[in-house]
Amino acid sequence: MRSLVFATNNQYKTAEVNKLLEGKYEVLNLSDIGCETDIPETGSSFAENANLKSHYVAANYQMDCFADDSGLEVEALNNEPGIFSARYSGVRDDRTNLLFLLDRLKGQVNRAARFKTVISLVQGGNTFLFEGVIEGTIREVPVGDQGFGYDPIFEPQGYEQTFAEMSMAQKNEISHRAIAMRKLIAFLKEQV
Ligand code: IMP
Repeated sequence: MRSLVFATNNQYKTAEVNKLLEGKYEVLNLSDIGCETDIPETGSSFAENANLKSHYVAANYQMDCFADDSGLEVEALNNEPGIFSARYSGVRDDRTNLLFLLDRLKGQVNRAARFKTVISLVQGGNTFLFEGVIEGTIREVPVGDQGFGYDPIFEPQGYEQTFAEMSMAQKNEISHRAIAMRKLIAFLKEQV
């Protein structure tokens, strides 16, 4: 069986991808390959950051690898927080960042936003990118207690609930990450 590294420390994410690949590949995560480096994300786009992570592993461990990078883009804020989503307010705290964003949007009528994920796959020395986007709007106040990050203020287009009011299964059907991941899985499955 071919093996592939997912440049993440999140065991849940790795298990989920392994399930979707139906035994066609074995997906290892960073701790499985003994990588304890906090790979620097110094790029200026989701794609650059995802590339930095996948290329780091491919170069240092001589293995095929994929990595993802995601964030929220708010139209009225010039697509901020974007790559700074995890630390928009200056601290890595979901609630603080969400409230900081709401404050910056106060009085703003244009509430359009999108979540985006880019996955970078390095395979046999070639790089492939897969993108997932979900459009939506930013609520005035947070609602719901599921999920993480900006979920309580993001209402996807065509729904009346925020991501944080949806079950994990429902969010995983429609999310930016799920869309990008499905593209990656389809690409990988075509090859075996
Ligand atoms: P990551 O690249 O998947 O680690 O995401 C970076 C940051 O973007 C997270 O820390 C969150 O602030 C935000 N983010 C990404 N995906 C989601 C999501 O599905 N819901 C809420 N926030 C998200």
